[in-house]
Amino acid sequence: MLYKSKKSKKSNMGSRQLLVISVASACLVLTACNENPAASFNDAELLSLVSAAGLTGDPTTGRTLPDITDAKAQLGKKLFFTKGLGGNDDSACVTCHHPVLGGGDDLSLSIGVGAEAPDLLGPGRFHDMNAVITDGGEFDGGPPVPRNAPTTFNLAMWDQALFHDGRVESLDKIAGANGAGVLGIRTPDSPDITTADPDAGPNLAAAQSRFPITSPEEMRGFTFVNPGTNADLRTALEAKLKAFGGWDVEFTAAFGDDAITHLRIAEAIGEYERSQVFVNSPWKAYVEGDRAAISDSAKRGAKMFFSSVADGGANCTSCHSGDFFTDEQYHVLASPQIGRGKGDDNGTLGNDDFGRERETADVADRYKFRTPSLLNVEVTGPWGHAGGYTRLENMVRHMLNPEQAIDNYDFSQLNPTIQAADLLTNTQFALDQLEFNRTSNVAEVHQNITFTDDDVTDLVEFLKALTDPCVKDRDCLAPWIPDASDTNPDGLRLNAIDNTGAFL
Ligand code: HEC
Ligand code: HEC
Repeated sequence: MLYKSKKSKKSNMGSRQLLVISVASACLVLTACNENPAASFNDAELLSLVSAAGLTGDPTTGRTLPDITDAKAQLGKKLFFTKGLGGNDDSACVTCHHPVLGGGDDLSLSIGVGAEAPDLLGPGRFHDMNAVITDGGEFDGGPPVPRNAPTTFNLAMWDQALFHDGRVESLDKIAGANGAGVLGIRTPDSPDITTADPDAGPNLAAAQSRFPITSPEEMRGFTFVNPGTNADLRTALEAKLKAFGGWDVEFTAAFGDDAITHLRIAEAIGEYERSQVFVNSPWKAYVEGDRAAISDSAKRGAKMFFSSVADGGANCTSCHSGDFFTDEQYHVLASPQIGRGKGDDNGTLGNDDFGRERETADVADRYKFRTPSLLNVEVTGPWGHAGGYTRLENMVRHMLNPEQAIDNYDFSQLNPTIQAADLLTNTQFALDQLEFNRTSNVAEVHQNITFTDDDVTDLVEFLKALTDPCVKDRDCLAPWIPDASDTNPDGLRLNAIDNTGAFL
């Protein structure tokens, strides 16, 4: 099996002739060839599934998206990369959402303020043991942030909700009311979950970007306007940016005058993120008509992804639906619960995370998390709301059969500083909830799938076909990363390095 999958990987890179030769020799070497990989895949069958699923290949259809060269996106880029928005000048948005790291941080759980080396991102980023003394934060040696940082790539494609638990969400979309701005967006600043936040701004991205700055672990630290309300904090940051002096000209270029307001900061950051559109995948080319754009293995994976369980498929598309591969709804999948948790308590531990229930206060939503998009999923790991899987293949196995995946869970995949002692206990509560939902016939509940190792290989190949090559190419990502030609308005730009000291 391994041999076969290696061969098919190699054939992706080689010419078609090489494919035929290598497949033929593989069949000679292996005693049994239970299928003929050289025979062309039945594209018509897959394409009818694709059309039944209503896909066009392009999730940007019908959307007006900003370009990274727009003045607001350019300002947003500089704001996204400045540690000046951090309370102690040591953490920026990019700390956990770097384009070269798939729009995330390549860590299971994020480390924001108080890092040993603030500009070192990705593996090798650790919290400074001494920062607990200088910065007053509670620190247990592991990552201080309780969830995995999702990618900012393709953020503009989300219509309903942001965050794993949807705590920034469009009330318009939920109500089904057409016409943006009728009901607005609710955020953690809203008094309850049906009331819009009047300061949410023009879109979900802008609304969301007003919150990481308020989080002590992510950007604020434990002493900057702390204690203090979110409003106090934002006013203090406006004054802080103003005092640097260098931002006036930047705000004027983007907004026409030099007023530095928290609403403008949020809108500009949102435009930068919304310009990160990376959807030109081989899969898109395939759906649009290029039958040779993806491998036969990826096609078999796609067939499984889109086929119903009754037809021998895995029905992944029941949740990962549409061209953006998400229904934007919440489901129990019981992916590994690691880290500090959200302070939820299902027994005695107090380090659990109840997910969507935290927002709705409805126990039926316990352990539900938002369905992630799968575009570029190859580069957005670790996977799951707490980053419990560091290999995509393991995440796929979990999606096929969560109980079996947790039974076989490999702790060695986690960085040893991660709080994982209660993984099995907490995750078992979520598995029990999943089983309860199954026996109670809850709508859209996950069903276990019978599968082979080849199926996993094929599904992973399909998921890799959802990668826009740009996200693996530093030169292609360059427009989203400030360089020497960009001003550095407060001298606090985060010029990220990796654990070898190389610039990202
Ligand atoms: C210390 C790491 C860290 C920093 C710094 C940080 N984030 Fe995040 N970000 C996260 C984590 C973790 C989540 C998921 C939190 C959750 O869902 O509860 C997240 C979620 C998001 C999301 C939601 C994505 C989605 O798919 O729903 C966006 C957008 C985002 N962050 C943008 C930003 C911006 C803008 C900034 C700066 C103002 C920022 N982040 C700073 C770690 C960080
Ligand atoms: C019942 C709904 C449902 C089904 C069916 C489903 N998924 Fe998921 N998937 C989710 C949810 C919800 C998450 C997020 C879980 C979490 O954050 O803990 C997720 C997460 C993932 C992730 C990790 C993404 C990330 O960014 O962390 C991958 C990969 C994935 N699913 C692939 C699949 C595949 C392949 C199938 C079919 C074999 C499948 N899913 C079936 C709902 C579903």
